[in-house]
Amino acid sequence: MSRAKVVLAYSGGLDTSVAIPWLREEKGLDVVAMTVDVGQPVDLETVRQKALASGAVAAYVADAKREFADEFVAPALRANVLYEGVYPLSTALARPLIGRHMVAVARQEGASFVAHGCTGKGNDQVRFDLSTTGLAPDLRVIAPAREWKMTREEEVAYAARHGIPVEATKKSPYSTDENLWGRSVECGILEDPAIEPPEEVYGWTTSPLAAPEAPAYVTVAFEEGRPVGLDGRPLPFHQLIEQLNRTAGSQGVGRIDHLESRVVGIKSREVYECPAATVLLEAHRALEALVLPRDVLDFKRSVEQRYANLVYDGLWFSPLRAALDGFVGPTQTRVSGDVSVKLFKGKATVVGRRSPHSLYQTALATYSTGDTFRPEMSEGFIYVWGLPARTWAAVEGKDAAATARPPIAPS
Ligand code: ARG
Repeated sequence: MSRAKVVLAYSGGLDTSVAIPWLREEKGLDVVAMTVDVGQPVDLETVRQKALASGAVAAYVADAKREFADEFVAPALRANVLYEGVYPLSTALARPLIGRHMVAVARQEGASFVAHGCTGKGNDQVRFDLSTTGLAPDLRVIAPAREWKMTREEEVAYAARHGIPVEATKKSPYSTDENLWGRSVECGILEDPAIEPPEEVYGWTTSPLAAPEAPAYVTVAFEEGRPVGLDGRPLPFHQLIEQLNRTAGSQGVGRIDHLESRVVGIKSREVYECPAATVLLEAHRALEALVLPRDVLDFKRSVEQRYANLVYDGLWFSPLRAALDGFVGPTQTRVSGDVSVKLFKGKATVVGRRSPHSLYQTALATYSTGDTFRPEMSEGFIYVWGLPARTWAAVEGKDAAATARPPIAPS
């Protein structure tokens, strides 16, 4: 009788490589490896061979950069998501996509289990578990690193016993995760939140101190809230992100030092590099400010915060996200136009915006000739608008006579 199968989200690193023989020996399962390219520095064929060499019965790879950008990053950008006001959710957004691929392979292979390499302390376990079972509630999730009690040294020895190639290079003290939307760094000296991150933790960004003495400018073209071009050239979104990561990263833009609140209740210190995300979020917000009315902007901010928490918490595949997208969608129909951003010494500053749907009317805003606004109308507006405030003050009886007086001089 053939053995039951498990689809393992496979990165090619030590943990997920050790998980292959571990799942076979401890759980009696045949392991099907699944590797998804979301823009991390990975050679898919090398990873595939390593999975097979580690004992996987099959190894799937998928280039999902376009899918990640279009179906996960774009909706998040339209919702301006920033967890706790600072983190563009790069890692968090990739997890449901990987989960969806795991489920697809599980269906194809007739697997009844899925597995991932996350530990029991982080957010990613929550996201993998919820996105796989949220799509396929019949699948059971196994997290080997949540169960085994191996230290890193024991894992290396386990790998050696099972003929798994372990890179001889000295392991960095940092734990990193990368995709198109950003790079995260944890561990090592970063675990002391009182200490400034050393320069060595950064991989994508030039130090703002060493950045060029002259600013760079980029112009992002948006259509319905989605970036569609850079500096006058149309680009698929995933390529636009890659290019902007390089341009903004070389100007030192996108470094984030976050004292973060994890889903599991732990506070952790996270360093991120998100150059393209930083620029695009600034640019998108600036365009919205130009084309959306005040009340929509104001209400949308509360939706954005809820959206960010939901993504962070692993609830991408949920009725709430569908409902929030139902709100965000119609707000984006006029978010088209161009935004110019100045990149200089670590800062991204919006310096220009234009849109065919601009609500900015020079004839109303100007203080020069051509002003069509009727300032005399303001007095009556303020009289009515201020009525509750004056009534409130009046009933305190502080100056009843004064508050009873109409503020407008009788004509
Ligand atoms: N703290 C971030 C998040 O929860 C980054 C996690 C990075 N994950 C990792 N496996 N290194 O989204």
